Amino acid sequence: MEMFESLEAKIKGKKIKIVFPEGTEPRILGAVVRLKAEDLVQPILVGNKDAVSKAAKDRGFNIEGIDIFDPENFDQFDEMVASFVERRKGKATEEQARVTLKDENYFGTMLVHMGLADGLVSGAVHSTGDTVRPALQIIKTKPGVSRTSGAFIMLRGRGQEKYLFSDCAININPTAQELAEIAVESAKTAEMFDIEPNVALLSFSTKGSASSPEQEKVAEATRIAKELAPEYNIDGELQFDAAFVQTVANQKAPDSTVAGKATVFVFPEIQSGNIGYKIAQRFGAFEAVGPILQGLNKPISDLSRGCVEEDVYKTAIITANQTLVN
Ligand SMILES: CC(C)(COP(=O)(O)OP(=O)(O)OC[C@H]1O[C@@H](n2cnc3c(N)ncnc32)[C@H](O)[C@@H]1OP(=O)(O)O)[C@@H](O)C(=O)NCCC(=O)NCCS
Repeated sequence: MEMFESLEAKIKGKKIKIVFPEGTEPRILGAVVRLKAEDLVQPILVGNKDAVSKAAKDRGFNIEGIDIFDPENFDQFDEMVASFVERRKGKATEEQARVTLKDENYFGTMLVHMGLADGLVSGAVHSTGDTVRPALQIIKTKPGVSRTSGAFIMLRGRGQEKYLFSDCAININPTAQELAEIAVESAKTAEMFDIEPNVALLSFSTKGSASSPEQEKVAEATRIAKELAPEYNIDGELQFDAAFVQTVANQKAPDSTVAGKATVFVFPEIQSGNIGYKIAQRFGAFEAVGPILQGLNKPISDLSRGCVEEDVYKTAIITANQTLVN
């Protein structure tokens, strides 16, 4: 079964509530109407009711039956303010909270925190920082995970080739400990997408073929990751060719259980990760699905501002699937 068919089957009819803070954005509205019609998620739009209804009408979208929550006119706003102040533990006063929670991303993220929604999809018009920061402050990472990170599922040929790349989106220069956690979380995300996780921590060096602080960080991260999750097949540091091509693996890392058959590629920092997935996308004709934020207590998804309606639709399907395993 193609990847999205399988993901859709897992959520259909389950009425998983996904909140979309960008309620007047046509790409969001188009996706939401499809998701609702196909009974894949129960969408919640954030925004002024009149403005959202007008935006939908202007584009010919029928949003009847879809909940619209307005931060300016929300019954449980006082409760939300109190919950936010308590969650921020001295970092926000009640007065500040009342202002902050008028922001649609903070408001939407609080709906998830309060259990009024199961997950959130935003970022069609907001930057990664504006979408992700409320989640880091409110939803926070799971116990044992200090950093959230952003993974991409890389697909080619109707899902026949399927790999995971991370962190391509969030942590600018993770420490060895953080990189190890990213590797372990990536293995878990891979399983969610039915990818058998053979996790390679990538470098410009294979098993000490070069020596530098950058290579040492990846070797150290590999040691930590193996300790954190002995149940997973994790190895490093490996160059991309040693990780991916069996004949190169035989030469460069003959004793590795991952070399030559890696399916999960963990990049040493954001520059190589971000560049790497875009090369696969543009030179290799892979479809890049993500970023999928890993390690948060509840799923929050960040769209690219260049996204199209189909991306919003697919991201919501992934987010709803994350609620099943979180
Ligand atoms: C993710 C990002 C937005 C964080 O924003 P930030 O303004 O630097 O965040 P701050 O340092 O002010 O921290 C805000 C809170 O989030 C937490 N935090 C920051 N990064 C975190 C991470 N990766 N995981 C978990 N928590 C994190 C901080 O601990 C802090 O928590 P607190 O307020 O409860 O103490 C920032 O790292 C970023 O811009 N990354 C690059 C994103 C990007 O441009 N990607 C482009 C490709 S898609």
